[in-house]
Amino acid sequence: MKKPPTIAIIGGTGAEGLGLGFRWAQAGYAVTIGSRTLEKALSRVAELNARLSDGKLALQGKENFAAVQACRLSVLTVPYRAHEATLLELKGALQGKILVDVTVPLVPPRVDRVQLPPGRAAGLEAQALLGAGVRVVSAFQNISTKHMRAAERQIDCDVLVCGDDAEARAEVIRLVQAAGMSGLHAGPLANAVAIESLTPVLISLNKHYGVKDAGIRVTGIPRADD
Ligand SMILES: NC(=O)c1ccc[n+]([C@@H]2O[C@H](COP(=O)([O-])OP(=O)(O)OC[C@H]3O[C@@H](n4cnc5c(N)ncnc54)[C@H](OP(=O)(O)O)[C@@H]3O)[C@@H](O)[C@H]2O)c1
Repeated sequence: MKKPPTIAIIGGTGAEGLGLGFRWAQAGYAVTIGSRTLEKALSRVAELNARLSDGKLALQGKENFAAVQACRLSVLTVPYRAHEATLLELKGALQGKILVDVTVPLVPPRVDRVQLPPGRAAGLEAQALLGAGVRVVSAFQNISTKHMRAAERQIDCDVLVCGDDAEARAEVIRLVQAAGMSGLHAGPLANAVAIESLTPVLISLNKHYGVKDAGIRVTGIPRADD
């Protein structure tokens, strides 16, 4: 069986990156939290490590570039406004690896409205910027950080995972499951247009129903526990 990937989380000091990083560390993966500043990465990592169960591999903290260089798979969790510049800075270090793009191209203040970016999806823009040497997989856009904060709990949501490389997609689905969610193969990277667009729909549902964690669940697919 293939060795589990070492994971770098770019901009991993926000709620989404910290939540995923903690869940993967609890599941036994080697995780490095990346940041623009080493001090911030180290301070967030110290907080997470204090909560880790005994015997788990401690998370590490590094600047984004060093984090990506040290790992086989990277996860991008920066706001859309930082997406292009961050990827251009890390393009060299990402070559030959998998990039999981979590970015939702929201346009404040109307974050409850679908507004497609110039390249139609952040995931497609990432692939165009990075070139064919990087296998971009898009995932986690529909998981609220409210779920991420409850780090010990299974999350009752599906994660739609899309990407053009089936092997990379399968690797990311294993990571989704390790993080306590259910991952579904959702086709090629072009489908990121629809998946990223679901997030403003979920934000509208949150507003209307007075909740913070609306998510999605697909019916009609056999599950392991059926
Ligand atoms: N919030 C949600 O419920 C949710 C759900 C699904 C997906 N997402 C998506 O996941 C991504 C991360 O969400 P989040 O709430 O964790 O974001 P966030 O807290 O706003 O930002 C995450 C990290 O990005 C880095 N960053 C911020 N501005 C930057 C800039 N101008 N240049 C480079 N790095 C910058 C910061 O890290 P350093 O200061 O340490 O460098 C920050 O801690 C977003 O694209 C979001 O749309 C969010």
